[in-house]
Amino acid sequence: MLDQLDTLERQALASLESAQDDEALQRWKIAHLGRNSPLMKIFDQLGSLPKEERPPVGRRANQVKGALEAAFEAKNEALRQATLQQALQTERLDVSLPGRPPVLGRLHPNTITLRMIYRVLGDMGFQVFRSREVESDDYNFGLLNMPPHHPARDMWDTFHTTTPGVLLRTHTSPGQIHVMRLYAPEPIRVILPGMCYRYEQVSARKETQFNQVEGLAIGRHITMADLKGTLVDFSRRMFNQDVHIRFRASHFPFTEPSAEVDIECYLCGGKGCGVCAGSGWLEILGCGMVHPVVLRNGGYDPYKFSGFAFGIGPERVAMLRHRIEDIRYFWVNDMRFLEQF
Ligand code: PHE
Repeated sequence: MLDQLDTLERQALASLESAQDDEALQRWKIAHLGRNSPLMKIFDQLGSLPKEERPPVGRRANQVKGALEAAFEAKNEALRQATLQQALQTERLDVSLPGRPPVLGRLHPNTITLRMIYRVLGDMGFQVFRSREVESDDYNFGLLNMPPHHPARDMWDTFHTTTPGVLLRTHTSPGQIHVMRLYAPEPIRVILPGMCYRYEQVSARKETQFNQVEGLAIGRHITMADLKGTLVDFSRRMFNQDVHIRFRASHFPFTEPSAEVDIECYLCGGKGCGVCAGSGWLEILGCGMVHPVVLRNGGYDPYKFSGFAFGIGPERVAMLRHRIEDIRYFWVNDMRFLEQF
């Protein structure tokens, strides 16, 4: 039986050599130290041995058990170290690698254009004046020389609220009345930027919401030459020194005379193409000399004061500057579009 124990120990230690992972190690433990292992069987048989054989066999069996347990612990520790070493090798942290830059947000093309307009007109002495987007019928139309049922109201397809007489402003022009009433009889030089809303059939050139930047200058001896000079200068600063613009006679009830300003088509350079509908020109703003009725509604005496006003479409300007062919891109939140700015 002592020989049997020797063989048992030798074989067990030899097979431990080949255990290369935790699973194999556990299997080895069950096979050699488990309840049904040959070693445990020997312990079971101790009672049936002749009395004088029991102590030496028992001692030797305990030795073998101790040796196997120690070998198991050593192997277990060795495996743990090996796994750790491997992890340290493969998952090594390279502190010299450049960091991963966080993805930066960016400004909407409209915001970029608006800020540029503010800067250009700010340099020319215009201050930003914020005005409300929900307006009364009176401010949006009546006080701008369009009494109820005036046919000119048809130029602005309007979103009405369920409260009679309250609507979403169709242009920034009602802001003119607000500023004038606040500052009369002081001279004024402001821009009124913001969102406008129209009940439009959406197309490549028309949206139901868009920005406008209204300009208003009120004072003594302000003439149409000031209006033209301001807008020519604005266009040159905004686009480039050689940009061609033209004033086209037009009609707005709140200005007299009135004009629309076109800029040479960016795509065809004035030759005529699909974007400019063959005309070679693209409209970017409406303007005119403030109508005497509007001056009076704002609190200014039209015999002493005069002024000019203009309303720029910043989306139109952005489309010109960046060659954007469809106004709908501005509000669909398509990252492929937005990431280009
Ligand atoms: N409010 C006009 C529009 O929306 C533009 C405009 C502004 C015209 C100021 C003249 C003066 O079309």
